[in-house]
Amino acid sequence: MRPHIICHMITSIDGRLHPSRFTRAAKGVSADILDGHYETIAERFGAEGWIVGRKTMAEIAKGRARSIADAPVLPRTPHLGNRGGRKLAIAIDPSGRVHYGRDSIGEDHAVAVLGEQVSDAYLAELRADGVSYLFAGPDGHDLPRAMEQLASVFGVKKILLEGGGTINGAFLRHRLIDEFSTLISPAVDGMAGSDSIVDYRGPEGERPGTGQALRLTACEVLEGGMVWLRHRVETAPV
Ligand SMILES: NC(=O)c1ccc[n+]([C@@H]2O[C@H](COP(=O)([O-])OP(=O)(O)OC[C@H]3O[C@@H](n4cnc5c(N)ncnc54)[C@H](OP(=O)(O)O)[C@@H]3O)[C@@H](O)[C@H]2O)c1
Repeated sequence: MRPHIICHMITSIDGRLHPSRFTRAAKGVSADILDGHYETIAERFGAEGWIVGRKTMAEIAKGRARSIADAPVLPRTPHLGNRGGRKLAIAIDPSGRVHYGRDSIGEDHAVAVLGEQVSDAYLAELRADGVSYLFAGPDGHDLPRAMEQLASVFGVKKILLEGGGTINGAFLRHRLIDEFSTLISPAVDGMAGSDSIVDYRGPEGERPGTGQALRLTACEVLEGGMVWLRHRVETAPV
């Protein structure tokens, strides 16, 4: 068993990923209202935390790299810090590149999903910071296994997947997304090649959504002209 996974993202009308590149709010439309929708909607799901890719977490986490001398050899088994009833802030970080410096991201408890090849010194750093961790196989790419451990070890039943596009694409490819929650901002990026909210990095010709079909379950216009779409991911008919 794995948690129910909802991919919750904000995008421009052309499906792009970087809000800093979007056109500005129109006259009379509050940019603050538009920005506020993302967290307000995220709260409504009642999820037990959120997952992001390594690059997104590296933009958020505030720690610095440091070297821990004489780190003991540590088993490659899940490690639980002191969660203390908090939501989980989870990074998919195969090579152990994110430095936390504390056991939280905002008010949420930090959890690293790693490859077994990370160093003992890095694991010692996470333990010193109070960060929890688990492993996604030898190279850190066994996402189904990591999600099963989120359920079995951390007791997670519902979780948000919050980007970026690369990790969303990997989850789609592994059929790990149950639902999409997409906020379409009244804005455009417009640049060819600009990252999109689902951006699987795989061989040319591959179709990461193969065998899946999306069913629209809700559509709502929010204040300021933001459109909120919800889609359930189903098995595609043969
Ligand atoms: N519009 C939104 O709602 C929204 C939401 C979140 C983020 N963002 C933005 O998105 C940007 C980052 O997005 P991104 O797509 O470049 O990066 P990302 O998805 O945040 O992280 C990608 C990284 O995840 C790691 N990873 C782990 N397992 C993987 C797998 N199976 N396949 C591929 N990668 C895997 C890799 O780390 P290694 O390279 O270490 O191997 C990879 O480089 C940021 O600028 C952030 O601000 C926007």
